[in-house]
Amino acid sequence: MQRTLVLLKPDCVQRRLMGRIIARFEDKGFNIIAMRMIQVTPELAKQHYAEHVEKPFYPGLEAFITGAPVVAMIVEGLNAISVVRNMLGKTNGLEADAGTIRGDFSSSRQMNLVHASDGEEAANREIDLYFAADQICSYEPVATPWMRASDE
Ligand code: CMP
Repeated sequence: MQRTLVLLKPDCVQRRLMGRIIARFEDKGFNIIAMRMIQVTPELAKQHYAEHVEKPFYPGLEAFITGAPVVAMIVEGLNAISVVRNMLGKTNGLEADAGTIRGDFSSSRQMNLVHASDGEEAANREIDLYFAADQICSYEPVATPWMRASDE
């Protein structure tokens, strides 16, 4: 079982796509075990995107990610980190395959609607950035026995 940090970015909130995108993760069988809407500050943006702070596109990225609220959530499930990344599609919506979230809804490199952690280390770091331990609600959905075999 893995946990990954997913952010519905400001373009997702402003375009009223939150419900449709959350539904993709629920439809897949993942559990959403934490969720909150927040206004990202420049300080949080720099922590979240630490690896990009020195890149030429960072000022635009910071203006974008702080420009409207985001929804942060923790998505849990088997192989959640790589499966969620695949569900998002390539970074640039123009290059993302049809059927992926970005392929279906985004035509931009920056405004690509959703962020998801790219590995275990990033997931742990990003979950700690957005959630305190007492904001995480672990639970077993009643549908689990009908989602996969017990030895999977
Ligand atoms: P994300 O998956 O959140 O990780 C870093 C973000 O930076 C990425 O999605 C894009 O929104 C943005 N990004 C990556 N590369 C570029 C780029 N070359 N120009 C502008 N924004 C970018």
